[in-house]
Amino acid sequence: MKGIILAGGTGTRLHPATLVVNKQLLPVYDKPMVYYPLSTLMLAGIREILIVSSPDCLPHYRTLFGDGSGLGLSITYAEQPRPEGLPQAFTIGRDWLAGAPAMLVLGDNIFFGNGLGPMLRRAVASVEAGGGATVFSYRVEDPRRYGVIAFDDQGRAVSIEEKPERPRSSYAITGLYLFDGTVCDHAATLTPSPRGELEITDLARRYMDAGTLHVEAMGRGFAWLDTGTHDSLLEAAEFVRTIQHRQGIQIACLEEIAYLQGFISREQAEARGRALAKTAYGRAILTAIEDTPAPLPLGERRKGDRRQG
Ligand code: G1P
Repeated sequence: MKGIILAGGTGTRLHPATLVVNKQLLPVYDKPMVYYPLSTLMLAGIREILIVSSPDCLPHYRTLFGDGSGLGLSITYAEQPRPEGLPQAFTIGRDWLAGAPAMLVLGDNIFFGNGLGPMLRRAVASVEAGGGATVFSYRVEDPRRYGVIAFDDQGRAVSIEEKPERPRSSYAITGLYLFDGTVCDHAATLTPSPRGELEITDLARRYMDAGTLHVEAMGRGFAWLDTGTHDSLLEAAEFVRTIQHRQGIQIACLEEIAYLQGFISREQAEARGRALAKTAYGRAILTAIEDTPAPLPLGERRKGDRRQG
């Protein structure tokens, strides 16, 4: 499974903050927004990652992550000349994917919760083994802002609509998607919606109609935050700050995750932690090394392990 982060868009709802900086590079409390979706892919065990962004912003991501080797990843970059909808990730990423299944995460989506890592890794294993697609549903106050999924009495998905005026349920589809290797063929045959964009919900509906869409519920206890407006951005920052201060942990500390997942060596993690030691972020890397001197490979975790995900 390969991962794609779509970090495009014009961020008009965040102007003037995003007049010269791409939205996904703005900080959410103490780290760039894009760290959060990248941490989601890493917790899923994904190491081959494509970052898609506009031609003028892409160089900033390259400066931030390079080839990804500092995190034990392989990161590639691709331009999205104009934002024409989320499924564009699969037309732009087609050659890079080369028929592999993919996890797509939107660059402004933040996920946090106990057991997130195992849940993601189960979803990856399921699509790798059996094909199809997986989306994640989340109850929200105002579903009209999102893709909305409705279920029948047996809990089977029966409709998926993009930003409906009259939502058929309170369940949004989050900006995290897994698709099998046929996704690029489907994406190539989508047509723009009335708002002039290719819609990810149309892509998911193809799988639903074929009976191969799996819906994973992110229930109580999971946080799914979006950052599309000044208020939601500030709320997300406050959430991250509250949890980090209260528990003395870091959310989306990439080097910590990379170390605990076995993507980077102790020496690599230590060097990075020391370089950032003046920050809580850097200290979290050093603490992870102290607490877990020898990480176990994925899948061999002990119950009650304090490690992320
Ligand atoms: C997009 C999708 C929508 C999904 C949302 C999640 O909306 O089109 O289905 O629920 O992301 O963040 P957008 O953020 O582009 O308005």
